[in-house]
Amino acid sequence: MKKLIGPFTQILPLTGLPLKGALADEQLHIIQNGAVLVENGLILAVGDFDELSKANPSAQIEEIQGGQVLLPGFIDCHTHICFAGNRAKDYSMRIAGKTYLEIAKAGGGIWDTVTQTRAADEATLTKQLVQRANRHLAEGVTTIEVKSGYGLSLEEELKQLHAIKAASAQTKAKLIATCLAAHMVPKDFTGSQQEYLKHVVNDLLPVLKQENLTSRIDIFVEESAINTENALVYLKKAKQMGFDITVHADQFTTGGSKVAVEVGALSADHLEASGDHEIKLLADSNIVAVTLPGASLGLGMPYAPARNLLDAGACLAIASDWNPGSAPMGDLLMQAAVMSASEKLSAAEVFAGLTFRAASALKIERGILAPGMPADMQAYPCADYREILYYQGKLKPNRVWVGGEST
Ligand code: NIG
Ligand code: FE
Repeated sequence: MKKLIGPFTQILPLTGLPLKGALADEQLHIIQNGAVLVENGLILAVGDFDELSKANPSAQIEEIQGGQVLLPGFIDCHTHICFAGNRAKDYSMRIAGKTYLEIAKAGGGIWDTVTQTRAADEATLTKQLVQRANRHLAEGVTTIEVKSGYGLSLEEELKQLHAIKAASAQTKAKLIATCLAAHMVPKDFTGSQQEYLKHVVNDLLPVLKQENLTSRIDIFVEESAINTENALVYLKKAKQMGFDITVHADQFTTGGSKVAVEVGALSADHLEASGDHEIKLLADSNIVAVTLPGASLGLGMPYAPARNLLDAGACLAIASDWNPGSAPMGDLLMQAAVMSASEKLSAAEVFAGLTFRAASALKIERGILAPGMPADMQAYPCADYREILYYQGKLKPNRVWVGGEST
């Protein structure tokens, strides 16, 4: 049964825009008085409401009332929302001026969340993940990448990945799992960094394949986590085994983006410390540069050089990094809107970064409203798309569709 959803005051299909480089709002193709024709969860056509209703007289009409702006659902290509507990204590120490080292010494940091996540059973993790995914969905995020990385042992990483799989069946949001067993060397592992990574390659990665849990591998490249030399060896092996790679790169010091380019990763994420050299490296590659403003806001650190990356010709995506430590807020639109004022990004660049450019970091084809695409969409209660960023994230969608069905 065909369904015609509309009329919308404006539709921004985000079609026909380049994957890389700067974008001006004048490049946006805006459909006034538009509608979307949907069948079996997929978009059949996007165009003028009157023309589409005349051409499809048998289509059921889902009428939209009042001024509404329609966008593709957002794609959050970097989150850590499978966790238990919180790190409010870390945050209070951080805003009071304590250093990373002081917080870690007081029992904070990633290891604190590992301890809390290990103490939770799979059902509890699943339930909390579904709640977070549904909150994101209500805010227009229809596709969400979710990392493990708070288990850091064979059993505990698998527990997290099983929870992500179970949660997928309990939310309408599309979840994409990534294994981040290389988040740090667990404190209870009695061996070197190399030995831990070898253990992951030999004992965990084959199970991910066998159980079809994920085809994606992430790593935190940083002297305080995994060094560049060991990261290269690990990622090359993972790649040989057929995994897609993504890298936590250049968050505090550089080196990660070079590793990402060298192994042909899909994306290099964070990039707060990237300088001219790294920007050129990323712009000249096919890697998606993912900026995570939520981590900058959470840590009180500068943003990644988003403007310079776009001007150099990079493909820039924007993700939330939602996690209990560095990015507890988890409001993707608010983070993107607030960053855009500092980094001087156009609305076209922000929306591209939240949709089809983020899709490219996940190697999926979506994030535009075009025939053949899943009808994952969100409508905002305003008459002009510019109001969405103007309200800096406080204006939320009042309708969200996944596969053409209202959520
Ligand atoms: O992306 N940088 C490393 N990992 C996470 C933080 C995880 C945590 O603090 O729990 C990040 O910011
Ligand atoms: Fe992260």
